[in-house]
Amino acid sequence: MSTHADAMHAVTGAGLRPAPGRRAAELYERVRRVVPPIEWAVYEPDIEAILRLKEQRNAVVLAHNYQTPEIFNTIADIVGDSLALAREAAQVDADVIVLCGVHFMAETAKLMNPARTVLIPDLRAGCSLAESITGADVRALKARHPGVPVVTYVNTSAEVKAESDICCTSGNAVEVVESLGVERVIFLPDEYLAKNVAAQTDVGIISWQGKCEVHERFTTADIATLRRDHPGITVLAHPECDREVVESADFAGSTAAMARYVAERQPSRVALITECSMSDNVAVANPAVEFVRPCNLCPHMKRITLPKIRRSLETMSHEVTVPAEVAERARLAVERMVAVGRAR
Ligand code: 13P
Ligand code: SF4
Repeated sequence: MSTHADAMHAVTGAGLRPAPGRRAAELYERVRRVVPPIEWAVYEPDIEAILRLKEQRNAVVLAHNYQTPEIFNTIADIVGDSLALAREAAQVDADVIVLCGVHFMAETAKLMNPARTVLIPDLRAGCSLAESITGADVRALKARHPGVPVVTYVNTSAEVKAESDICCTSGNAVEVVESLGVERVIFLPDEYLAKNVAAQTDVGIISWQGKCEVHERFTTADIATLRRDHPGITVLAHPECDREVVESADFAGSTAAMARYVAERQPSRVALITECSMSDNVAVANPAVEFVRPCNLCPHMKRITLPKIRRSLETMSHEVTVPAEVAERARLAVERMVAVGRAR
């Protein structure tokens, strides 16, 4: 049985958990607070099969914090926010990485560790931010603002990263922007993250009009209703939310930063203004905290299911590759980001 400390470490950072060899039934102990027995009976055969297949294929499963609890807490070896998954992918020495998240995360894993076979269980797991901008758009912006460096959120295609000077995530955006020592940056593609970064730095921000289809739906009225209905509640918001929403929250940060906040402060009642599975996964690690769940589902993250992960390992599909000339430039932008964290 997993310990509470195991689970807490896993959700806040990039926990390495030895799933292979564990019986699925033992793993149920981890998720019984959020997965009813009737659902577990449906999941168990796939979990058993995936644990076996991971050993046969010498594969590791990387899962984002938005994956459903039966994926996140049982078959995943490494979990975390986008930054942790990018960093940890570089360290994997297994033959195969199965990325349970969205396509840009699988591409980033491939960039960070090109010798591994990277699989995504459903190729259609996209992202509204990644789809909001192309490499040609970035070239046009650079032509309009010559000499201004381009900071690109990891929620983009490899083609867009290849046109960028450096990447960032919501966990390190301000640090990355300030690391460049310039007066102005082009910050792509999330308009709301750009506004939230601009509020924390003197560096001028030229933004794009991309939005996360999940976080843009939250409003200040949602937060006012939460506070009215649950006096004293702690509200944490993801910085992909609009500036006014972030301002009306008690804290804003990446998924890992939100999980850390809950783990460290143990608020009696909390609402995470973000994707739905986040609350389930943080709740598993924090049994004393009550979660109020005004969440929105990410349809892309939810394309990843246990049967698709099983099929992915059975058939070694869908392999994610990046053309060499794009990969070389895109990798540089991601590696520069990771180096900023290391320099701290
Ligand atoms: P982080 O996990 O980096 O906070 O990202 C959130 C997100 O929306 C990923 O798609
Ligand atoms: Fe993209 Fe938003 Fe889904 Fe994250 S939650 S993958 S940013 S659409």
